[in-house]
Amino acid sequence: TLSYTHRFEPATAAGASPLLLLHGTGGNEHDLIPLGQQLAPGSALLSPRGDVSEHGMPRFFRRFAEGVFDLDDVAKRTHALADFIAAAATQYSFNAAKLTALGYSNGANIAASMFLLRAEALAGAVLLRPMVVLEPAQVPDLTGKRILLLSGRRDPIVPVDHPERLASQFRAAGANITLQWIDTGHQLTEADLAHAARFLQGIR
Ligand code: MLT
Repeated sequence: TLSYTHRFEPATAAGASPLLLLHGTGGNEHDLIPLGQQLAPGSALLSPRGDVSEHGMPRFFRRFAEGVFDLDDVAKRTHALADFIAAAATQYSFNAAKLTALGYSNGANIAASMFLLRAEALAGAVLLRPMVVLEPAQVPDLTGKRILLLSGRRDPIVPVDHPERLASQFRAAGANITLQWIDTGHQLTEADLAHAARFLQGIR
């Protein structure tokens, strides 16, 4: 049996890249399914629920306070999620080599951690409101990975320099990065959805 509580929706269009949906703090495996269906019609959807509970709110790794992360736990759960993805790809027969993440907030942060620690797990990603969590000494090879960062200009949770720092980390590793600033805070807007949809159409 697979290690994470999750939902899987099979592809309805041949050749559409599978999507990994990663919710924010307090979300669950159901939250992003409608968004995935809207932004990547026909794609298989794999949607795990974060297995850390913060006062009952699911997340993908532990933190000591807002913005203060338990880095050992981040590494451990990043590997666990990458292992889950590989096992799910075998069980559900989706093309793991084309897996693209769509992650929001804490879900964007674990996706970013996967690029840094388990680069093979993802082909690309839309990271909605990500921040810098890990700064590994060893730079991974992210050649060929396509990553869209969507960041809020007035985000009270993400420190203002983090999106550029994260983009630089990924660029130094050879990834193809677009950082798009949105005129909003931590919450998603129609502009986010439009940018995400265009990006996902481009990698189908
Ligand atoms: C995190 O803990 O990953 C970030 O603070 C985003 C959040 O979940 O609020």
